[in-house]
Parts: sequence; C-alpha cells; structure tokens
Amino acid sequence: MLTNKTVVLGVTGSIAAYKAADIASKLVQAGAEVRVVMTESATEFVSPLTFRSLTNQPVVTGMFELASEFSLEHVALAEAADVVVIAPATANIIAKLAVGLADDMLSATVLATEAPVIIAPAMNVNMFQNSVTQDNLAKLKARGFTIVDPAYGRLASGKVGLGRLAEVEKIIGTIKQVLGRSGDLAARRIVVTAGGTQEAIDPVRYVGNRSSGKMGYAVAEAARDRGAKVTLITAPSALSEPVGIDVVHITSAVEMKEAVTRACAQADALIMTAAVADYQPKSTARQKIKKEAAGAGLTLELVKTPDILAEVKGDFLRVGFAAETEDHVANARQKLAKKQLDLIAANDVTAPDSGFTVDTNRVTLISRDGKVEELPLMLKREVADKILDRVVGMLAEKGGR
Ligand code: C5P
Repeated sequence: MLTNKTVVLGVTGSIAAYKAADIASKLVQAGAEVRVVMTESATEFVSPLTFRSLTNQPVVTGMFELASEFSLEHVALAEAADVVVIAPATANIIAKLAVGLADDMLSATVLATEAPVIIAPAMNVNMFQNSVTQDNLAKLKARGFTIVDPAYGRLASGKVGLGRLAEVEKIIGTIKQVLGRSGDLAARRIVVTAGGTQEAIDPVRYVGNRSSGKMGYAVAEAARDRGAKVTLITAPSALSEPVGIDVVHITSAVEMKEAVTRACAQADALIMTAAVADYQPKSTARQKIKKEAAGAGLTLELVKTPDILAEVKGDFLRVGFAAETEDHVANARQKLAKKQLDLIAANDVTAPDSGFTVDTNRVTLISRDGKVEELPLMLKREVADKILDRVVGMLAEKGGR
C-alpha cells in the first residue's frame, strides 16, 4: 500500500519518541522505505539502533556524520522524500520550522523538501496551549503543513490535558491520505456504504444481519489512499473510524437511504457494500415488548425497506454487492440488470474464508457489458483496490468531471 514510497520520519525529543518506533514499524510493514532523522535530544529517549533495526536503513542523527550516505549532501533526504512526517514534534522543532531555521538535519531537511510535511505535536499541555506554539502551528498550517492534532489524556508530567501524541493509527492514516492526494482517484467523490443495518423491533431489539463492515471500510480506505474524497455511510460496526474520511453513522435502511441521497448529490460513484435489511418491522414498539404480554409466540409483521441502489437517482456510477449462498453469479447478474448497476461484486458467503466477518473475500466482478472476472481469494483491501481499478476505468470512459 505504501510500496515505492519514501517516508522521512523525523523524531524529536519528546517522551513520546518511543511511539515513533511503532510508527516506523507499521510504515515498513505497509511497504514504505522509511528514513529516520533524529534530533540530538531524541537520541536521549530512544537509541538510533532501534530505528535502524526496524527500518533496515541508516539513521541520521547529525549534520556532519560520515556514516550516512546522505550526510555528504544534506538535501538528498529532502529530495528522496515522498512525505516528511515529524512524530513526535516538540514545541522546539515546531518553532524552528515556523521561522525557517536549519541548524540540524531535521529542520534542514524540512526547509529543503518539496514533499508534503506532516507534524504530530506531543508536549506538555501548557507548552502546547502557549500562544507562541499555537501561532507557530497556525503559520505552518497556512504554509500547507498537515497537523495531526494531539489527543487529550494523561501526560508524562502526570497532568491531564491536550498534548499526547495522536494515536499511531491516526498518524499512519494521515500519511496514507496525504500520499494519496496524487492518486488515480484524486478529486473524485466516492460514497461508500458499510455494515449491516439494524431495524428496530423495540427500544432494545432489532432485526439485523452478520455484516461486520470490513469490506466497506476497506473500500473507503482504499479510495482515500487513491486521492478520493470519501463519504462512508456506516451501520453500527465495531471497526474504528477511519482517518481522512467523512463518516456518517446511521442505523436503519431508511436512515441509510436518506444519508446516501444527501451524499450522492455530488458523487462520482456510489459503492453499496452495506448489507441493507430487505425488511423492517412494520412498527417499532415504544416500550420493550414483555414476554409475559407476548405469550408463547410472538409474530413480527415485516414490511419492505427501500431498495437504496435502485431508488437513489443521479449521474454517478453505481457499484453493488451481492452476498449469495447459491447461484451467486446468476443472481448477481439479475441484480445488476434490475438495479441498473455499472458493476456488481458477487460473493459466495457460505465459504468460511469469504464474506461476513473475515478479512478475506472471494468475489466475482460482473460489469454492465456482461464481462465476468472471477477473482481469487484476496484480502478485502485487495478486493477493494480491484473494484476501484474498475471504477477508475469506468470514470475515465465516462469522461467529464
Ligand atoms: O437485493 P440485494 O439486497 O441482494 O442487493 C444487494 C445490493 O443492493 C447491495 O449492494 C446492497 O447494499 C444494495 N441494497 C440496497 N438497498 C436495499 C437492499 C440492498 O441498496 N434495501
């Protein structure tokens, strides 16, 4: 996902420097080449050897060391970078960058680079809230730097406040989003639905299904990483909210339809990954239904939910999913025609390694022109990219925006 990308990771002297090891490791796992630059004070908190071992690359700590291939030409790192990330960033480095100092390798690299720069501050609450730090951050933001705001919580000083380094996942998500800006979906608006809707029976019970949301979240993140502006409309899901995506939380099919209608007003594509309930209780009891009152049996009257894909109109591509337990290709073909879709992904949800809950999926893509592409078992993220490859192709064919 970050293959062929060079991430220059700047580490400065905050107690949160140890968290940068996790960031470096996750970036390497995602396929990036990671070049760590440490300030002198950062080396007091974590050994350069930690980063060297995690990244398999020399770690730069000083301007004039001869051990590093980059030390001879200090702008080489700045040129190699696809993105520069400073995490954690102290008040000191933020101040230096704001005025354009270049008295160490990290500040010199930032001054010399044309790559986007991401700053994740971590410091004592008073230092963070000090107007001089806030002014410096505002200056950097105005200059196009991306700031990953610190979190609220317990700080090293024992105080509780704003200043903790943002969650590693948030920093990684921001890196992917920033790197995706020049991707093949740049400036496209993609609406994705995810999860299984819940149709209320009474205040505590609902009719639902086994969808986890994993496929939809994977599509949303993949689209973000390719530069799209993504709106994710999600039914309740245990997954954490992705970074850099507009997330709309809904519960029922009717709520999902309203949210999709609103989001699709400006969309280039709608990808309906959600398992939308086909039926909802005709009425929702205002109080919890008592078993004493219901007696030996309880009959629920169900009525049809709106078919979102078929009903939401507009000039955007429509991609549907068809979760089937039998004749999945034939059934999906029928749905493609009935709902007037551009593409449908049929998956057999009876296999244990495919469909609901798991991280992998085996789908067959069927397009409007009848072309059938059977994909092997893949990670949901890989399936997402295959679908988006098709979306990119179809958008290009369509031309226009
Ligand atoms: O008809 P079926 O539910 O099998 O179709 C599946 C596809 O239609 C999925 O993409 C799903 O998100 C979408 N759908 C919908 N509105 C419904 C039911 C399903 O948009 N009420």
